[in-house]
Amino acid sequence: MITKSIVKIEQINEIAMDTIEMKVKTPISLEEVEPGQFIHVRIGSDHAHQLRRPISIADLDKANQIMTIVFKIVGSGTEILARAKVGEELDVLLPCGTGYPIDKLDVPKALLIGGGIGVPPLYYLAKQLVEKGTEVTAILGFQAKEHVFYEEEFKALGNCHIVTNDGSYGHKGFVTDVIDTESPEFDYFFSCGPTLMLRAVSAKLADSKGYISLEERMGCGVGTCFACVIPVPGSTTDYKKICSDGPVFEASEVAL
Ligand code: FES
Repeated sequence: MITKSIVKIEQINEIAMDTIEMKVKTPISLEEVEPGQFIHVRIGSDHAHQLRRPISIADLDKANQIMTIVFKIVGSGTEILARAKVGEELDVLLPCGTGYPIDKLDVPKALLIGGGIGVPPLYYLAKQLVEKGTEVTAILGFQAKEHVFYEEEFKALGNCHIVTNDGSYGHKGFVTDVIDTESPEFDYFFSCGPTLMLRAVSAKLADSKGYISLEERMGCGVGTCFACVIPVPGSTTDYKKICSDGPVFEASEVAL
């Protein structure tokens, strides 16, 4: 159930260029939160910032009710959020959306493919998979070296390949190039990132079972405003709501 809650900022770190990691303490239990879900954060009360911003959940410390969120500064809303101080409180809705259904899957080997700010939700997913005994390989794509984050964290959980578009760190090119060169074995793939990347990944892995998580600017974030719809393949009238039916979908379930 989505709850409106006031969370307190405990820690703020700039983990890469324009990329902020925040640890917040929540007054409510995080037991039911699934990997891939997000929180919807209120930024301000002025006209320009009335809409909440969806922010990925990157990690959870359930025992201490600490949630790690990661976001990129991409506009005035996230800039305001990045200027918040330790001790300040945020008004959030949580947990929002439908996450990766790993409790229903048998996954001996998983391939995680993340792009940019699509990487954070895959970190909590990787931790949950490893806890279940899954062997995890991650391919993480970034624009350039200064944008890379969470490399050591993923390496502590399994194989991790970093790829940068300009070749300034790790492999040069795109995540799909690394799928070609490394040919990782997997039972399911799980991907999160920009639509262009998800489209390329879904096309390359069309014969495999997998899930994708869509990044989308949202309105209400809870399924009532229709600002985030995406068509169902082969239909001109059926659609899914990214905020509530997703953001995680089976790769074949939506038309990118
Ligand atoms: Fe309102 Fe999805 S953001 S329905």
